[in-house]
Amino acid sequence: MQPKPIDTPQTQQAFVNWFRNSSPYIHAHRKRTFVISFEGEALLSTDFAHHVHDFALLNSLGIRLVLVHGIRPQIDERLQQLNLEPRFHQNLRVTDAQALECVKEAAGLVRVEIEARLSLGLANSPMAGAKIRVISGNFVTAKPLGVIDGVDYLHTGVVRGIDSDAIHQQLSQHNVVLISPIGYSPSGEVFNLSAEQVATEVAIALHAEKLILLTEQDCCDPLHNRSVAQMTTQEAISFLAQHTTLAHAIRRPLLAAITGCKAGIERVHLINRHHDGALLLELFSRDGIGTLISSDPFESIRPATLKDIAGILELITPLEQQGILVKRDREKLEMEITDYIIIERDGMIIACTALHVLPNAAAGVIACMAVHPNYQKGARGNRLLEYVTKRAKTQQLMTVFVLTTQTEHWFLERGFITADFAKAPATLKSRYNPQRNSKILVKTIG
Ligand SMILES: CC(C)(COP(=O)(O)OP(=O)(O)OC[C@H]1O[C@@H](n2cnc3c(N)ncnc32)[C@H](O)[C@@H]1OP(=O)(O)O)[C@@H](O)C(=O)NCCC(=O)NCCS
Repeated sequence: MQPKPIDTPQTQQAFVNWFRNSSPYIHAHRKRTFVISFEGEALLSTDFAHHVHDFALLNSLGIRLVLVHGIRPQIDERLQQLNLEPRFHQNLRVTDAQALECVKEAAGLVRVEIEARLSLGLANSPMAGAKIRVISGNFVTAKPLGVIDGVDYLHTGVVRGIDSDAIHQQLSQHNVVLISPIGYSPSGEVFNLSAEQVATEVAIALHAEKLILLTEQDCCDPLHNRSVAQMTTQEAISFLAQHTTLAHAIRRPLLAAITGCKAGIERVHLINRHHDGALLLELFSRDGIGTLISSDPFESIRPATLKDIAGILELITPLEQQGILVKRDREKLEMEITDYIIIERDGMIIACTALHVLPNAAAGVIACMAVHPNYQKGARGNRLLEYVTKRAKTQQLMTVFVLTTQTEHWFLERGFITADFAKAPATLKSRYNPQRNSKILVKTIG
């Protein structure tokens, strides 16, 4: 008889919660194409096995996976063995004939190493039962980078084309496609390419849903020494212009992300590979841990539609139960949905408010203002207030009222003053519930 392993109810519950919360992402990612690139350094590290397990997991969840690997340290190692100095110009390798031999050797060895790791299926490893077929090939054609600043880059090249049909064919057979940073010219020459460029061009050519760049460090804002959670393409361009001394380990992937987003990839993720489970956290939790770069803002404020009702109810029901907001049923929400404004973050409604016009009074009332507890103190309340104020002005209202039980000071600090109930419009008085004993505040906006 085997004793049951000890697992506390808390850890069990945490696991169940995590699994349930990740299920929308599992559905959303299935059959989507993700291109993941990682540097040659990743292969040298002891925790590379974890990444391989995560790639295998993504494959088994039905994600169409393309892996692009780097080979910089492996090339340097070979050059060193031959007592040759690596040559760089503007942080790009100049690949002469000897260096090209090192490039070919490094690419071959790294590819074989990754294929071997993905083939591992030992019964006592996380890869048990994972039958992964890995396909490599001549998917990338290249041309010489040429001469820049008088420096001839020789066999260093740039991507000229991607055989997207051939890659799609492999992906549709559930194969993982592994691509080295090497390209071939129609005349049979071999070119040394940048892994980020190959990954970006592959993602663009495949119309991939995601380009994921596993980086060697976090994308940090040097002014605040904090990781950047998300940027639009435009913000990423400004960020690079503002921080000219950023490490190449982040500058290069950021440039790749900008190119990718401009060419139509919806989401590019920069994830520091040193965080254990980084890939899974980024893909299967709402906020992730990396830096998301997207052409559209990740979080947007917009008028609500009928499709948003379930999300709004989910947000406001706990506040109604605490008596902070007045109870609203689904029918009332449906009837008044055009009055509502929401903030949506990655498909989830995290804040809302409504502006109801009070007939015959050139006035409105702000109602149902709520920000999800996880996202409070991020100026979202302010954004909603600014939005409704603008809307009130376009509707030619002169004043906006608010009835509040617990948030009086928040509104007072934003220019509202206590209103005289006796002078309030009759249509507002008819909304007033004496049992709630709300404070009435008003702001002139006209
Ligand atoms: C009030 C609310 C909408 C503000 O949203 P938010 O996005 O956190 O607001 P902002 O980031 O723009 O402002 C945050 C500031 O408001 C303050 N604040 C939050 N709730 C407050 C309250 N009830 N009274 C006074 N100040 C409050 C915060 O302390 C913070 O100030 P600080 O940084 O100086 O400490 C949000 O806290 C919420 O949803 N509360 C629960 C629902 C509610 O009360 N709705 C109003 C119904 S009338």
